[in-house]
Amino acid sequence: MSAPLFEKVAFIGLGLIGSSLARVMIAENLANQIVASTRSQKTLDDAKALGLIQEGYSDPIEAVKGADLVILALPVRATQKVLESIQPYLSENVILTDVGSTKGNVVDAAKAVFGEHLPAGFVPGHPIAGAEHTGVHAGKVDLFANHKVILTPLPSSADWAVEKLIQLWQAAKAEVICMDVDKHDEVLAHTSHLPHLMAFNLVEQLANREDNLDIFRYAAGGFRDFSRIAASDPQMWHDIFFANKKAILNAVDGFEKQLATLRKLIEDENSQALMGLLGHAQAARQHFNHMLANKPLMEKNKVTTQQFTILPGQKKFQGKFTVPGDKSVSHRSIMFGAIAEGTTHVTGFLEGEDALATLQAFRDMGVSIEGPKNGEVTIHGVGMHGLKAPASALYMGNSGTSMRLLSGMLAAQKFDSVMTGDASLTKRPMERIAKPLREMGALIQTTGERGTPPVSISGSQQLKGIQYDLPMASAQVKSGILLAGLWAEGETAVTEPEPTRDHSERMLRAFGYDVKTEGNRISLQGGGKLVATEIQVPSDISSAAFFMVGAAITEGSDVTLEAVGINPTRTGVIEILKQMGADLTVENERIAGGEPIADIRIRGSRTLKGIHMPEDQVPLAIDEFPALFIAAACAEGQTILTGAAELRVKESDRIQVMANGLKIMGIDCTPTDDGIIIEGKGKAGEWGAIFTGGEIESHHDHRIAMSFSMAGLRTSGEIKIVGTETVATSFPTFTALANQAGLPIQVAE
Ligand code: S3P
Repeated sequence: MSAPLFEKVAFIGLGLIGSSLARVMIAENLANQIVASTRSQKTLDDAKALGLIQEGYSDPIEAVKGADLVILALPVRATQKVLESIQPYLSENVILTDVGSTKGNVVDAAKAVFGEHLPAGFVPGHPIAGAEHTGVHAGKVDLFANHKVILTPLPSSADWAVEKLIQLWQAAKAEVICMDVDKHDEVLAHTSHLPHLMAFNLVEQLANREDNLDIFRYAAGGFRDFSRIAASDPQMWHDIFFANKKAILNAVDGFEKQLATLRKLIEDENSQALMGLLGHAQAARQHFNHMLANKPLMEKNKVTTQQFTILPGQKKFQGKFTVPGDKSVSHRSIMFGAIAEGTTHVTGFLEGEDALATLQAFRDMGVSIEGPKNGEVTIHGVGMHGLKAPASALYMGNSGTSMRLLSGMLAAQKFDSVMTGDASLTKRPMERIAKPLREMGALIQTTGERGTPPVSISGSQQLKGIQYDLPMASAQVKSGILLAGLWAEGETAVTEPEPTRDHSERMLRAFGYDVKTEGNRISLQGGGKLVATEIQVPSDISSAAFFMVGAAITEGSDVTLEAVGINPTRTGVIEILKQMGADLTVENERIAGGEPIADIRIRGSRTLKGIHMPEDQVPLAIDEFPALFIAAACAEGQTILTGAAELRVKESDRIQVMANGLKIMGIDCTPTDDGIIIEGKGKAGEWGAIFTGGEIESHHDHRIAMSFSMAGLRTSGEIKIVGTETVATSFPTFTALANQAGLPIQVAE
């Protein structure tokens, strides 16, 4: 066993936080000796009886002698006095930390005692954890697990001290964040101190009314939720409000200003602006909730929050379904609606997280947007020059489309901006869009390790049009350049190696902007304007594809997907499935909102056959390959895919990740640089199990998760798919529809 982290630990104060940390130290064997000093003899006796400390002292001087770690776990206001008394007795290389909820005043107290030369081992800290009860008995070994601990190292703090404290808190299973002292106090003033102050204030306001009895008697859940924290300890909050006075007063000023704005909107009955404000706040709350819930996704380690389980057994697969709106079209409807003149109405909008990230970004840039509600969104366009600087970095979640298209738009704005994303997006190449934008005169940096996000843009550049030959078939890069071109001088033209989805071109025209398509060359003139319009978003063929494949591999299935977008730049999956012999018909073709749509009916009447997938269909089916690989595994004979290297830079490396999963499920396959070879296990006329089951890692990729779900229709063993939370980025109703069709998927959060 390795030596414990600390020789002798001295707690000064042993309440909830101190005694919880002592419990962690014992459980994790972090110290050879733990002692404490508190004013209450009973606490010391109890702590000894609980086995938390070896020695207890009423005088902190006795406790700190010879200690290599001293933890101040007492009310912040007592800090200076305690430091004065223990200072002469501290060991030379002692690590000195605290757990107080304000930091500036702890540092001030230390400076008053030590002078400007603070000890190298002094590193203030703040575990953000608490519980209903206080005292040595209330401590819990898991109090800090999955909670944040903020350390605020000072310029004088030594790395070894910070390192050891990080190890200590990590042993408590906390997430350690380092921040500077002022930032800590400012953040806490807004996120904790101001809400407490407001809760106390509201309860006080109501309590002072003459009819207070009635008010409290009839108060409902809203009041209860809002005022819960006003039940906290007045002494503690009194101390915190003084201790963090400057930052709290700033937060209160900000609150008063915002409140005055809200008051005025109500007074003036400014309906549109009020809806905008409330909608923005509501969306921000959802967005941040999601960020918090998906926090692990943003980290390097592989923590996932949801998994699917599918049991073996014969299944039928039938019904008529409407899958949600097209992701590509939904993104663009918000972007173009935002910079148009007038009000744009959108129906069929995809309420998935990717499109919502775009929506939130535009709200953050001052655009008033109502909805989405049942797929309806109303965007009050601000015109070509009306976007405002966002207050902070724009969070794009999992969405490459948002980041690449917005790169183009933001490069042309008057303000600076930064875009970030989750663990998957953070690995995706952004130089492919940054490079042509730089040629247009943009100041744009990909600040990640390998040309990856965050993307940082300096505004106020007058862009100039370019002719760009796209090195890869990418609708995102094409669109990003064309969007920058809206603000550029002269003509911006993109030539693509093969046609890719043309939703940007179509929708710009629908907004009244002239876009020319001559063969593979798409061009527009900068300096025009967009005029608001109505957008009807078709169902997403990329989501329909999972059900198409599910039906194609299941005996006797009969599935109709209604009103699916069949824009010819998206129908590769239909063509490829037909070439594989699927019983697939496209019915009831019509035009809706400028895009062709149709009902697609697929029946499981014959075994698919392996093919060499046509390379000219690759860009037209680019998102459907994970699902098509499942079809190929069920086909008779070999399927070969070439010319699809782009699959390696999608939400995951879709060639490798699919190959790994297929192999786990008993399918013989060989990934290649630009494709894959899959040995289909199907036999004409046989409909038995193809897959063996197994545990699949989806690598934060929605389409990997949904594709392997379809394998559940032909499996002899249980399939577990780990990390399925990203399914909500593009297809939030996926499991509900799969269940309806006859493929039960158990979802565990
Ligand atoms: C998209 C383009 C494609 C596609 C993505 C959506 C778009 O990406 O894979 O899901 O909306 O423009 P690439 O441009 O990287 O091929």
